[in-house]
Amino acid sequence: MSAELAAAVGLLRSGELVAFPTETVYGLGADAADPVAVARIFAAKGRPADHPLIVHLPGAACLDQWARDIPPSARILAEAFWPGPLTLILARAPAVPYAVTGGQETVGLRVPAHPLALALLRAFAQGEGGRRGICGIAAPSANRFGRISPTSARHVREELGDAVALVLDGGPCEIGIESTILDLSRRGVPPRLLRPGRVTPEQIGKLIGEMPELPDGMKATGIPRVSGSLDTHYAPRTATRLVTSDGLIRAVEEALARGERCGLLLRGLCAPPPVHSLRRLPNDPEAFARLLYAALRELDQADNDLILIEALPSGPEWSAVADRLRRAAHGSEDRR
Ligand code: TXA
Ligand code: MG
Repeated sequence: MSAELAAAVGLLRSGELVAFPTETVYGLGADAADPVAVARIFAAKGRPADHPLIVHLPGAACLDQWARDIPPSARILAEAFWPGPLTLILARAPAVPYAVTGGQETVGLRVPAHPLALALLRAFAQGEGGRRGICGIAAPSANRFGRISPTSARHVREELGDAVALVLDGGPCEIGIESTILDLSRRGVPPRLLRPGRVTPEQIGKLIGEMPELPDGMKATGIPRVSGSLDTHYAPRTATRLVTSDGLIRAVEEALARGERCGLLLRGLCAPPPVHSLRRLPNDPEAFARLLYAALRELDQADNDLILIEALPSGPEWSAVADRLRRAAHGSEDRR
């Protein structure tokens, strides 16, 4: 074990916070069996205590420590997708502290695919392990509440500063948006997709022989609608708007006419008037997802008055990033 990993395990065992890379985004980790350590996560993020955290496990073999009444579909999905970007919501085992579940009777579990995350989880599970005979690392995305998730160690430092004892640097995240969340905790009803991600509802449906119920906003087209019920999440501080490709140039011209400094996030080849800052992302859903949060963060830090984002195509392959963009832009009218 490297000295840094040993230090990380020592810090976790003494109730401190350690940020670590996953294949999706960086997580802000604490001993999931220690309610005092878990409380530090909420304090560092400024997150309300009734928001549950995802518990990261070293392998599917630990499932039974954390969940009970585990349906066969959960075992099938864990076998197929772990380690990987799928979080399963299951009934909590009695030993799981309510601090982690936000007071709920369910718990979110996943085995991340990043080698450094797995090394940390395995090292933490060895020897004395967690407390109460269960071992896992609770970790939300390592950003301040409601803000853009970090996809590099530098982002974590920018977000949390000294609130985190150690940031393990595993380079930029491969996937770039958060895991798919599937609720399997309700007996006798279809599984429910709570957050779209790299693992798609079609992949899940094929494996378990039942299509998951989609969130309201995804039902009709596979693309989340703008909805008043969506939280502002993954959000830049700068006012942010989604604009169709056709409307982009006009929206830029109008912003410039109002004397606003404009940041543009483009996907296509459109040639806009000169703006204060411009980022162009690949017109491919996976590459777009990988680079999205870093690009949003840059535009947010570039002293723009307004960020305009080119809306996405309507195919299901874009639905996970479309969900994040809707949330990033939601409510920005009020903040202008
Ligand atoms: O990719 C990811 O999932 C990243 C990396 C670090 O693993 N984690 C992440 O955690 O995105 P967080 O806390 O930022 O988002 C977790 C989401 C929250 O919206 C939370 O409400 C939901 O998961 N969640 C966790 N436990 C839940 C539960 N028991 N029931 C319903 N939702 C739950
Ligand atoms: Mg988050």
